[in-house]
Amino acid sequence: MLEASHLKKSFGELKAVEDVSISAGPGEIVGLLGPNGAGKTTTVSMIAGLTVPDAGEVLVNGAPPRKQQIGLAPQDLALYEELPARENLRLFGALYGLGGRALDEAVKGALELVGLAGRAGGRVSHYSGGMKRRLNLAAALLHDPQVLLLDEPTVGVDPQSRNAIFENLLALKARGKSLIYTTHYMEEAERLCDRLTIVDQGKVMASGAPDELYRLLPAANLVSIDLETPERPLDLGELSGKEGVRTAERVNGVLKVGVTDLARDVPGVLGWLTAHGHSCRHIASERASLESVFLMLTGRSLRDQ
Ligand SMILES: Nc1ncnc2c1ncn2[C@@H]1O[C@H](COP(=O)(O)OP(=O)(O)OP(=O)(O)O)[C@@H](O)[C@H]1O
Ligand SMILES: [Mg+2]
Repeated sequence: MLEASHLKKSFGELKAVEDVSISAGPGEIVGLLGPNGAGKTTTVSMIAGLTVPDAGEVLVNGAPPRKQQIGLAPQDLALYEELPARENLRLFGALYGLGGRALDEAVKGALELVGLAGRAGGRVSHYSGGMKRRLNLAAALLHDPQVLLLDEPTVGVDPQSRNAIFENLLALKARGKSLIYTTHYMEEAERLCDRLTIVDQGKVMASGAPDELYRLLPAANLVSIDLETPERPLDLGELSGKEGVRTAERVNGVLKVGVTDLARDVPGVLGWLTAHGHSCRHIASERASLESVFLMLTGRSLRDQ
């Protein structure tokens, strides 16, 4: 179990991290999300013990972490381009004090996990971007750390390698590792993470399970309803006043109702329509995205960064 609390770091006048807390339990993938310059790399670097925090505390299982307990796959690839993949891993393993059979096995296991066992003799300079990312990940987990810090592990990789990396991470999760997954891709975070911590300008804006974050939005789901008789009058004010209904409007004849919880709130909306003599031709619903959560919290879009 990783617990980092109230981390702070300035570089001269620049407050890179002002107050960031993040935790990850065994078998949990926690997303650290934020735009460029939000302080994500500085945060993981403090957790990894590479940057000394100005304030705050990092604990693994209740005590200051030992080097062996943490693995970091850095945002800037840390690989020796001229060496074969296997030799890169042997070097990283040796840095963690591995040798002999233990090193051989760790290298073999890590190569298999990231799906590079068949290309282990090839020079890194001949690897594709996706293969390099996967090797970078392998280097971070050679010493079998309890906590894995992944700083933008999918930047610059093709969709196939990205899926392979996701599978690798899910395999590590299944082994009970605690993972911190840094990204500015909301879709990735949504797909992969059990919990998320959203940071902006060095501060935590929100954290929780995706469902909890969606509930921060005025309406977590937008339901579009095509009515059989769209010309028939409808009291939008009354509908908006119903419990669980956050917004109600008509757009091009389609009724759009924003609700907090689909299962709980939609039956009431449909019942209300029936009671007012409306029947529905078609219903569709769309879930709000984490992107909209970020927009609401910061007033800015992640994608504009
Ligand atoms: N060693 C350093 N010296 C001075 N400023 C730094 C240093 N490291 C980071 N910063 C600054 O701290 C802020 C946070 O940077 P950081 O790399 O942590 O952000 P990030 O969220 O990882 O961004 P990105 O998505 O671009 O990787 C930035 O303004 C950056 O310029
Ligand atoms: Mg970064």
